[in-house]
Amino acid sequence: MAYETLLVETRGNVGLITLNRPQALNALNSTVLKELKQAYAAFHIDDGIGAIVLTGSERAFAAGADIKEMQPLEFAEVYKNDFISGWDEIAKARKPIIAAVSGFALGGGCELAMLCDFIIASETAKFGQPEITLGVIPGIGGSQRLTRAVGKAKAMDLILTGRMMDAAEAERSGLVSRVVVPERLLDEAMEAATKIASLSHPSVLMAKEAVSRAFETTLEEGLRFERRLFQSLFATEDQKEGMAAFIEKRKPVFKNR
Ligand code: CAA
Repeated sequence: MAYETLLVETRGNVGLITLNRPQALNALNSTVLKELKQAYAAFHIDDGIGAIVLTGSERAFAAGADIKEMQPLEFAEVYKNDFISGWDEIAKARKPIIAAVSGFALGGGCELAMLCDFIIASETAKFGQPEITLGVIPGIGGSQRLTRAVGKAKAMDLILTGRMMDAAEAERSGLVSRVVVPERLLDEAMEAATKIASLSHPSVLMAKEAVSRAFETTLEEGLRFERRLFQSLFATEDQKEGMAAFIEKRKPVFKNR
């Protein structure tokens, strides 16, 4: 399928999506959202795909929601259409998604990276929620997900001032999982995704569900949920194989069942 704003390819068991609106620093307009949903949906029904990498260009992961598209909108229509709620669907994606971020990840771009399961950043990455400088506030979850990721003090600092933080600060504050030299960014993300895709898919999906649940529930409920998922994995062939392979000192051959 041909996309106007994305480059989409399959590399082994990994789906790779590259945001591709260089003239607008990958600003996220309604076409990007529509196409991202299509690309994700295609990877989700493809049993050969075990993980997805989402990236941008060297200069920009994405510089935010498209300001030129948003500027003329009126309250009545954004409210009636529940404007930008569509991005939540991406957070509900079941297969693991890694954001590989280089350059600007601002506003909706930072929020899109946070919709992914974890972020690997290039040393050149710059994160921020500058919406306040445009007379608005984050709208794709920035006030909630950034606060959960970095805590209240830094989230307030970033969201109230609109300043950017560099990759080192983002790593220190827990927003990104690793920082790498720019030349290694895509390889590092692809290697992580390839590793994930090589594991038992049911346990990968459940691990993602369990960690995601930590943001939505109490500790007691989360622990119970984790235990039930853990117990249910004993119904899979892959649990038998994974543990037998360890004991027999060989590599497991997972059947994803
Ligand atoms: N929307 C639309 N176009 C954008 C854009 C955006 N978010 N960000 C950059 N562009 C466009 C610029 O208009 C420019 O296009 P033209 O050449 O046609 O003028 C092109 O991309 C290159 O940008 P700059 O010339 O500005 O590049 P720069 O290197 O001087 O600055 C930048 C880079 C600091 C990222 C600057 O572009 C910038 O501040 N962008 C806006 C960042 C922002 O405010 N993001 C939040 C958007 S609101 C939002 O996301 C709401 C939400 O939560 C849902």
